[in-house]
Amino acid sequence: MSIDPFPTPTPEIENLLAEDRKFPPDPAFAAQANATAELYAEAEADPEAFWARLARERIDWVEDFHTTLEWDLPFAKWFVGGKLNIAYNCIDRHVERGLGHKVAYHWIGEPGDTRTITFADLQREVSKAANALLELGVQTGDRVAIYMPMIPELPIAMLACARIGAPHTVVFGGFSAEALSGRISDCQAKLVITADGGWRRGKPAPLKPAVDEALESSPTIEHTLVVRRLGDAVEGGTAMQDGRDVWWDDIVDRQPPVHEPVALDSEHMLYLLYTSGTTAKPKGIVHSTAGYLLGASFTHEMVFDVKPDDVYWCAADVGWVTGHSYIVYGPLANATTSVLYEGTPDTPDWGRWWQIIEDYKVNILYCAPTAIRAHMKQGAQYAQAHDLSSLRVLGSVGEPINPVAWLWYQKHIGAGTKPIVDTWWQTETGMIMITPLPGVTTTKPGSATFPFPGIEVDVIDSAGNTVPLGGGGLLVLKRPWPAMLRGIYGDPERYKETYWSRFPGMYFAGDGAKRDLEGYLWLLGRVDDVMNVSGHRLSTTEIESALVSHPAVAEAAVVGGPDPVTGEAINAFVILRLGPSNEPTPALGDELRKHVATKISPIAKPKGLMFVPDLPKTRSGKIMRRLLRDIAQGRALGDTTTLADAGVVDLIRSNTGASED
Ligand code: WT7
Repeated sequence: MSIDPFPTPTPEIENLLAEDRKFPPDPAFAAQANATAELYAEAEADPEAFWARLARERIDWVEDFHTTLEWDLPFAKWFVGGKLNIAYNCIDRHVERGLGHKVAYHWIGEPGDTRTITFADLQREVSKAANALLELGVQTGDRVAIYMPMIPELPIAMLACARIGAPHTVVFGGFSAEALSGRISDCQAKLVITADGGWRRGKPAPLKPAVDEALESSPTIEHTLVVRRLGDAVEGGTAMQDGRDVWWDDIVDRQPPVHEPVALDSEHMLYLLYTSGTTAKPKGIVHSTAGYLLGASFTHEMVFDVKPDDVYWCAADVGWVTGHSYIVYGPLANATTSVLYEGTPDTPDWGRWWQIIEDYKVNILYCAPTAIRAHMKQGAQYAQAHDLSSLRVLGSVGEPINPVAWLWYQKHIGAGTKPIVDTWWQTETGMIMITPLPGVTTTKPGSATFPFPGIEVDVIDSAGNTVPLGGGGLLVLKRPWPAMLRGIYGDPERYKETYWSRFPGMYFAGDGAKRDLEGYLWLLGRVDDVMNVSGHRLSTTEIESALVSHPAVAEAAVVGGPDPVTGEAINAFVILRLGPSNEPTPALGDELRKHVATKISPIAKPKGLMFVPDLPKTRSGKIMRRLLRDIAQGRALGDTTTLADAGVVDLIRSNTGASED
């Protein structure tokens, strides 16, 4: 490719991939849908009045609020003057209305053990846990770190904290001792709630040793509260330090089963959740109570079309914001019955999820594109061996979903007809922000479609101007929303700087997006990953989607590398679908590179292409393109602490089968 001597000004991000398949809502679904098109009109007419109406209808208040929004840009306060307790709203009020017998969680342990927890059980267990926290000296306002596997005591611990107004910070159970102690120190937590361990791929995975290690450098911690999950399966037993470590059974079981929830201000800090920047110190994202409760519960009911008798399953880990909003607070506030599963999708085999859906007659599944692509790689035979007819709505979150993965999900999991909701949001937004409404929105595979009612989104260029329809640019949010982050813990300057300084008055999400000629939004990945090839700014997403549209490909990642001629050159990493005819040969590599050129554009044709057995991902399943750039350029690897499986990088490095021009 030669350099254009007269480069024409290019858009912020090139629009390459045209996807024109459309899926209008099924009229029968639309007739019974929770959401209606009127919600958009009502919210646009007066967003504050819209949220105020919903807050009064959906939340049980101890004291009503007097002001809907105080907006001192970028600091928001919602439902000012109100008092409530979120645990009461998630549990007690349902029991008081006769739903005590209703199942809150069908819990499934990885080895196959199960527990059924009703709302009455939850009320009793959360009250006992709250009383135990008080006995351990935790008071309203004290921070509590939670480091647990996916067992019922995890939501119970969160709700017990919320009941007494002690902000929790859940640290994903797969994180290291170092990550745990860093978070504990940042928020000066007083207590850690943990477990002896959990089951992972058929083996016991102890957790308590990492807590012990973390506590060597965490002087603020007074006690640990330890759930017995593995018991005798821990080799050599679990070490407990006298005076510091307390078994959950020993203290929680003997507590009174009644606890009066503390009435808290609307803006009381409910939790902190740390997001790791690429290199910088993790940011403690602050969420508060009333606005968050409203945002999580209302979106949950509308986006997933949840009905009173539905069984809903969000297959994320509670350690991520997805789990906070859509396993714990949103569904419980709506008195929804959820599935909670401890283990991985491939244990004992790739049929596990589909078995769970069949066994529990799951109606709604919410998962990540990385999981869908992993299933796609294995093939549809696992899903086909199970009865998935109970499913009504399928959700996706965490990364752009490639059109072909979307279509696979709908065809093989959704019987070709069930609505797919591709939901865009972030730890910072607390609630789903861009999404179809099932029964209302005509979807296009790969597009998250439109902002949720009341949310204002724009796509702008680097000068801050709206990009015309058909163009790509930077995604911004232009007005406050109830579940928005209230700041970065202890660092208001960093909060302003990170999210609000690049474009005055707008929240910059860090993502690229385009709007097609019909106004549909297409997320294009992180702007840090945008590549500049001969002056064309290309998003990773569209090239990856072009690769995944080839029948041999399950998953792809592209990154830029330096190129003397074009500035940057595109390097592709490709995972093939399992199958006898999909051999990682140079000929297939060439075919795939040409496929990209014809599918989207010759400028997007990868220069190098490498077949890989796996890709480096974060523990929440996002591809770490930064590490792929390091590999492609033969550099030493940058920070690998958030990498889920360190072996993957070596596997890729030792791999052959690359093809190059
Ligand atoms: C980032 C936020 C929100 C819960 C899980 C992730 C990416 C998220 C989508 C989507 C395209 C998406 C964005 C976003 N992302 N959902 N539907 N389509 N990209 O939370 O770890 O804070 O990550 O995930 O890049 O900024 P998070």
